[in-house]
Amino acid sequence: MQFSMLVIETKNKLKEVLSKLDDNLSLGLVPTMGALHKGHASLIQKAVNENDRVVVSIFVNPTQFNNKEDLDKYPKTLESDIKLISSISKDIFVFTPAVSEIYTDSVVPKIYDFEGLDKVMEGEFRDDHFNGVGTIVEELLTIIKPTKAYFGEKDFQQLRIIQKLTEIQHIPVEIIGCEIIREDHGLAMSSRNERLSKKIRQKAAFIYKTLQTAKNKFGMENALNVKDWVINEFQKNDEFELEYFDITDVETLTPINNKINNVKYRAFIAVYVEDVRLIDNIALN
Ligand code: PAF
Repeated sequence: MQFSMLVIETKNKLKEVLSKLDDNLSLGLVPTMGALHKGHASLIQKAVNENDRVVVSIFVNPTQFNNKEDLDKYPKTLESDIKLISSISKDIFVFTPAVSEIYTDSVVPKIYDFEGLDKVMEGEFRDDHFNGVGTIVEELLTIIKPTKAYFGEKDFQQLRIIQKLTEIQHIPVEIIGCEIIREDHGLAMSSRNERLSKKIRQKAAFIYKTLQTAKNKFGMENALNVKDWVINEFQKNDEFELEYFDITDVETLTPINNKINNVKYRAFIAVYVEDVRLIDNIALN
């Protein structure tokens, strides 16, 4: 059967369209804020490969921005986003609600207890960010009821928090984490990369190179030494300002100084360059 790509703006219309699908079809959801790039394309492709039908949502969620300027500057590229989605498959439903469709009363996030996962790293530097993410993701999962939902590991802390969200809110969905897609020289793909000058975008390979060396060092040294080494590397480089570098237990996201055998660790970094905030992370063992 041939489908054509549908762009849907309201929750009611989306629910109506989804209610007509056969109950035994699997449904994949890829939540996005638009400004789609190859990283998103790989999530969408994976969702298409693994499900009978796919919904891609495009919604710049105001309650997850703690900085109004960042929200205002967030790129809005709906036309090219739709082109990219339809180049993957014309059978995808694209959900593009207005803010008033999602936040009917007031534009505020719900408050969750993510058992501390939201208190470190991004949570420490971005007040209420994860409550905002939780609010929109819970709403999308509730409206769409997907079989699987796809999130990139570039936002690894977000991925862990969404797994926790589905556990504490008892939402029956499989959360799929997808590997980080990088530019040729190593910079993790992000909509924010578009805001970098060409020269700095090339130089930003420094962030991933530092993570790779940190990983090698972690095989031989304790976490505190690795952290000191990273801080020192950034002190030598005026163009990049380190906001945080942490090595954490993958499950609890608790930063550590010393490692324990048989625990999985990951290193996380946030950096300012040309007033753009970039994050990245790497599995250490
Ligand atoms: O990762 C993102 O793009 C956003 O945080 C998400 C998951 C779409 C929620 O707005």
